[in-house]
Amino acid sequence: MDNDKIDQIIKNHQGKDNSLIQVLLEIQDENHWIPHEVLDRVSKKLDVPLSRIMQIVTFHKTFSLIPKGRNELHVCTGSACFVRGSTRLIDKIQNLIGIKPGETDSELKFSMETSNCLGSCNLGPEIIVDGKHHGRVKPDKVKDVLKKYE
Ligand code: FES
Repeated sequence: MDNDKIDQIIKNHQGKDNSLIQVLLEIQDENHWIPHEVLDRVSKKLDVPLSRIMQIVTFHKTFSLIPKGRNELHVCTGSACFVRGSTRLIDKIQNLIGIKPGETDSELKFSMETSNCLGSCNLGPEIIVDGKHHGRVKPDKVKDVLKKYE
């Protein structure tokens, strides 16, 4: 993420209520993670101690300090999805793109996480990509789901 883009985001929120959190959220949203040098820049530009920023970004799960993929992949491993084969979906994803839960592929295309029950058990097993639910996914359909994402 270049400095001009960061400065523009800061300028858009500077002086407003909750400007720090809004700046951090927008950077996270744009870049999918927040490098340390970006935190330094935000600290200096908004005149907020880096320690305060670190408290926020390490407390809230929304923020990532390690590189993340452009697309967030969640596989539900709640009881109903587990019984219906969610582990086979995880295995298939690992087979197709080479990542396990908690990992990001080398092209920064996908990051995979597991999720607890998402409340739509009748659709299990489920894969959620960037918030979009793909229900009743069979392992041989995982490739079709993933190819929709750049
Ligand atoms: S167990 Fe997967 S949605 Fe409930």
